[in-house]
Amino acid sequence: MSIQLLANLSYILSAVLFVFGLKMLGSPATARRGNLLSSLGMLIALCAGLSAEGILSYEYILSGILLGSVIGALAARLITMTAMPEMVALFNGSGGAASLLVGWSTLYIGEVSTFTSVTIMLAMLIGGLTFTGSLIAYGKLSETITSKALVFTGQRIVNSLILLGILTVAVLFVMAPAPDSVWLYALLGLALLLGIMAVIPIGGADMPVVISLLNSYSGIAACAAGFAINNNILIVAGSLVGASGIILTNIMCKAMNRSLANVLFSGFGALKQGKAIEGEVKPISVQDAYYILEAANNVCFVPGYGMAVAQAQHVVKELGEILEARGTEISYAIHPVAGRMPGHMNVLLAEADVPYEQLVEMDDINPRIEHVDVAIVIGANDVVNPSARDDVDSPIYGMPIINVDQARTVFVLKRSMASGFAGVDNPLFFGENSRMLFGDAKASISGLVSEFG
Ligand code: TAP
Repeated sequence: MSIQLLANLSYILSAVLFVFGLKMLGSPATARRGNLLSSLGMLIALCAGLSAEGILSYEYILSGILLGSVIGALAARLITMTAMPEMVALFNGSGGAASLLVGWSTLYIGEVSTFTSVTIMLAMLIGGLTFTGSLIAYGKLSETITSKALVFTGQRIVNSLILLGILTVAVLFVMAPAPDSVWLYALLGLALLLGIMAVIPIGGADMPVVISLLNSYSGIAACAAGFAINNNILIVAGSLVGASGIILTNIMCKAMNRSLANVLFSGFGALKQGKAIEGEVKPISVQDAYYILEAANNVCFVPGYGMAVAQAQHVVKELGEILEARGTEISYAIHPVAGRMPGHMNVLLAEADVPYEQLVEMDDINPRIEHVDVAIVIGANDVVNPSARDDVDSPIYGMPIINVDQARTVFVLKRSMASGFAGVDNPLFFGENSRMLFGDAKASISGLVSEFG
């Protein structure tokens, strides 16, 4: 069997592993195995590609795998769960940069056809803007730079000029592709600039959508690079990332009831200011909260970012089990953008071994939330903010929420009256049926567990 045939068969195996892995990522029960299958597919694809093309020797492949594994293992151990979106941003940026370099290097191999020069141009353009866009997204999420939307007068004109410039130099480059072409450097510069300009006007609660969109771009760039070097598995893998990224982006936009255009071009929260909130805050002690919980027949936990910060998932599960053993009906309501990354709450609750069947999606809990005796909001804020439903002037108006304010009683567990990720005040805290249980969520829930003990 020739090495090329062997490589092609390995590519088919990798593609099958990618598709099945991706499918398994759709459920928390199979996600880990899906991740493992996809990584195995990538390992096979890498080894087959690099050895079949005679690009690298086995020593280089092995040292690369070893070095990459050490960096990956360290990152997985050291990066906290709450910093995961930042890490994903860096992953996307690296993917974009890699495609840019692959596209660029193709020019050094020799004469290229018009088709190849178009794919090189696309790999460099999309890879370049994904790289800088992801770095800005990383900066915003890690708050190394301001997470606010940065808008200025004439921004759209500047962006239109950059786009026009890109269109011009792209055509000039494709007409005469060469590694030392001045149009190549102009294209590179403008692509990097476009990445920055596209992400700076987006801020606040819209960053997850941007990360997902950049993920899709990194896939499209890889796909273009695959065409440039005529590598089938790169085309397949790039298309899968591109398509799944855009599907996730769409799901997130729907979860916030916004169009993608509105997310990308509206400068979130830069201008709007919601209604002033009036009312009285009613704090509650752990002991009083215990008395109410003791009498409840139906309790719904609503976790948010604060549960991740407090690492309260294990004690939450403990409290859930205690209540369940006493005959109380338990559910965990999951908002699609609670926390800081898609599936954040699912991951945390799965880590604590909360049974999947107790997890309820927003659309399933809302119609029956009136029958919930106590909704326990654990470090969630924006995703339970009624102004997203009621106040047309609120910057988050239109974002679907879990209607905890319609439950019979609401406990809000947080440390202060501070706002959440979107920086918007929350009228829930002043509701007639709301009680604020101030303090670190883990300490408050542990206190409740002790009361039952
Ligand atoms: P947030 O609105 O960010 O609110 C989290 C709340 O947790 C804060 O108000 C904070 O209040 C509280 N908190 C922090 N540490 C705590 C601790 N140790 N103990 C108790 N409470 C603590 O969270 P959310 O409701 O989950 O909403 C998510 C937001 O992030 C949305 O705006 C969403 O669009 C955005 N976002 C989502 C994603 C994805 S994909 N999930 C990614 C990026 C951004 P105190 O400081 O007073 O304690």
